[in-house]
Amino acid sequence: MEGQHYGGNEFPGPGDSATIFNKRMKTFRGKHMKLAVRSALVAGLLMTVALPSAFAEDKAEDAVKYRESLMDVVGGHTKSFFAILGGKVSHPDDLAWHADSLAEASKRVKGAFAQSTAGSGVKTEAKDGIWAAGSEFPKLAGDFETAAANLSAAVKSKDQAAIGAAAKAIGASCKGCHDKFKVD
Ligand code: HEC
Repeated sequence: MEGQHYGGNEFPGPGDSATIFNKRMKTFRGKHMKLAVRSALVAGLLMTVALPSAFAEDKAEDAVKYRESLMDVVGGHTKSFFAILGGKVSHPDDLAWHADSLAEASKRVKGAFAQSTAGSGVKTEAKDGIWAAGSEFPKLAGDFETAAANLSAAVKSKDQAAIGAAAKAIGASCKGCHDKFKVD
């Protein structure tokens, strides 16, 4: 019963005669072993990505890059949100996605700034006061989370007045924190 194999007749199988088996094995190696090796390499790569411990101290310049990238995500969604809301672009279906993504990103701001880079000498627009005793930063970051969650809920409600009010509150939240903790 030669030739009765799962993917046509290219794979070696139990019913093969020795000659056919060897022939098929050769094709199989040529075609599929490279792929198998590549998959193994990828798996290896994934395994060598170390999972950092929760309290790891990152290099200051990496910590700064990471939080600035997060703020760029925040900034991107906010700009796009306001462009749609203000009628400058016609992508109404994307409004909820921007609001939801902003709400997700906002949850990460507090954590992204948890590591102090004060006095590290790394170029940043974050003021050292963020990490001073009694800093208002965690509270402002928490308020921002609430404002972004409210915006996301307002968009779902489709209530124009609520969306307008929540959008205004978001703007105020960005400005409030930047005025205090970001170098212009
Ligand atoms: C709780 C404080 C806080 C809130 C709220 C906040 N930001 Fe920021 N943001 C900062 C700080 C601090 C920096 C400077 C980070 C740095 O340079 O290390 C920053 C940086 C940025 C940057 C520049 C990132 C870069 O690549 O250097 C953008 C864009 C930005 N924020 C947009 C926004 C927008 C838009 C909002 C509101 C939707 C917002 N931020 C809300 C604190 C905040």
